[in-house]
Amino acid sequence: MPKRKTKQSPDTSVHRVTTSGDIEVSTYLEIAKEMGGEQHVVAEEAAPPTERESIVVMDFGSQYSLLIARRIRECQVYCELVSYDTPWEKIRALNPRGFILSGGPASVYQPNAPMAPSYIYESHIPILGICYGMHMITKQLGGQVSPGAKQEYGHSILHLSDTESPLFKDLDGSIPVWMSHGDRTEEMPPGFTSLAYTENSPVAVMGNNDGIYGIQFHPEVAHTPQGKTILRNFAYLVCGCKGNWTIGNFINDSISNIKKTVGKGKVINALSGGVDSAVVATLIHRAVGDQLTCIFVNNGLLRREEVERTSKVFRENLGMNIIYVDATDRFLYRLKGITDPEVKRKVIGEEFIEVFEEEANKLGRVDFLAQGTLYPDVIESAASGSTASAVIKTHHNVGGLPARMRLSLIEPLRYLFKDEVRKVGLELGMPEEMVWRQPFPGPGLAIRIIGDVTSEKLEILRSADFIVMNEIKKAKLYHQLWQIFAVLTDVKSVGVMGDFRTYNYLVAIRAVTSEDAMTADWARLPYDLMARMSSRIVNEVTGVNRVVFDITSKPPSTIEWE
Ligand code: XMP
Repeated sequence: MPKRKTKQSPDTSVHRVTTSGDIEVSTYLEIAKEMGGEQHVVAEEAAPPTERESIVVMDFGSQYSLLIARRIRECQVYCELVSYDTPWEKIRALNPRGFILSGGPASVYQPNAPMAPSYIYESHIPILGICYGMHMITKQLGGQVSPGAKQEYGHSILHLSDTESPLFKDLDGSIPVWMSHGDRTEEMPPGFTSLAYTENSPVAVMGNNDGIYGIQFHPEVAHTPQGKTILRNFAYLVCGCKGNWTIGNFINDSISNIKKTVGKGKVINALSGGVDSAVVATLIHRAVGDQLTCIFVNNGLLRREEVERTSKVFRENLGMNIIYVDATDRFLYRLKGITDPEVKRKVIGEEFIEVFEEEANKLGRVDFLAQGTLYPDVIESAASGSTASAVIKTHHNVGGLPARMRLSLIEPLRYLFKDEVRKVGLELGMPEEMVWRQPFPGPGLAIRIIGDVTSEKLEILRSADFIVMNEIKKAKLYHQLWQIFAVLTDVKSVGVMGDFRTYNYLVAIRAVTSEDAMTADWARLPYDLMARMSSRIVNEVTGVNRVVFDITSKPPSTIEWE
């Protein structure tokens, strides 16, 4: 039994995770870095093959840049987001068929405003500038940008003056668009014509005969309902893309890349029951079969039946080698008396790494660690890099297992968005319930028990949570929510059951809708459903006599209570 105790004081390093899904393993690795681990080398197994066509989105700092990449991928064209100052050699390797210059907070006339590199104009590859991107094209090619008399934020109507433009195929003469700009193109560069206008922007879309376009509005956001048609037209009709970015192609390419990289080596993967690590395991198993061993650590903080269900799927349905470790006692021992949420996270992370390492050591020589890093994590870690020149593709979002383990990382999902991961999972034949599982945090129920964690409290929470899950699934609302769960508060209150006074725990139900967990709204569940959950919890769970429903959004609250 480890005797080390982690100091219980609020920590400045926060391990609360803002992205979606089961990133718990990366959280642990991140934590492990603090224990003296080192960066592991990333095996370059998952680079997209160069024969694949791609659209390159150059990021000038818009909050929507990633969304542009996502929309293009939805058109089955491979797309990467890169920093605007990425050198041409890196870009060339992506086999670009088109460039999109994103919006951004700057104004082109500000000193040091970021500008598109000259190679994008010299390459004769089509270009689409969005908002700030359009202003840059205007300025760099000899036109004039000025602050508009009126700023234009929100809905507007775009009137097409040239309905023959390839950009506008399949569109009506007027369409609703979403604007967000102060500056506007006042004078177009030589060779450009105006293709559409709005009330406040005489040049809302411009283009020339070399396939260079500028658009003032944001086609990538949902508020521009036909925006995807415009992006698709750009990719297919202007850039000549064929649309070969399919899930089937991705799987085939990944499998052959993993085979090449791994050779005869051994791979380990930490299973969590979440969709990302599950898809990684399945993909690698397809590629190298028994050379993969999954380690599934039961930290004692999982939900009811979770261990059984996860093991069954991976062993029976998918036929993988799994090492199952029940480390419940170790985790609960380390958590004893700890009430600070960040200290809980830290302790759980440290203990996970210790257990994982011990198990991995029993396997003899292991060469690779597989991890379910996703594209938004890669982008995010690059964006938080120290300089704007942090090149997104080469940045590796990993902490480290202890350096003595000498593992290379393989991250086959590092170019995928979450919805693409789910599609890969389904195409690989994974069960729907696993692919569509709601996110569950790595520290598990420990951060849903306010105050110290004990096995009694865990049992109470498991029972309450089980009822919540059962009812929401029966009501067929599970998939409409980002997350729903029970929280065991440290409040006790008075109740009356039969003829007896009770003094028992208060359980809270948290249900939220969200796109990406960065913001969330509390879910308006039907009253009768809430009533059923509440009455079942109070009647069936010993130790609980009151249930409340959380009606706060994020922000100002977070999704989890701790
Ligand atoms: P919050 O509570 O920050 O949660 O609004 C946002 C999303 O992240 C999940 N979450 C975590 N996941 N380790 C994880 O793996 C953590 O420590 C952690 N904290 C929060 C949370 O469930 C939600 O989906």
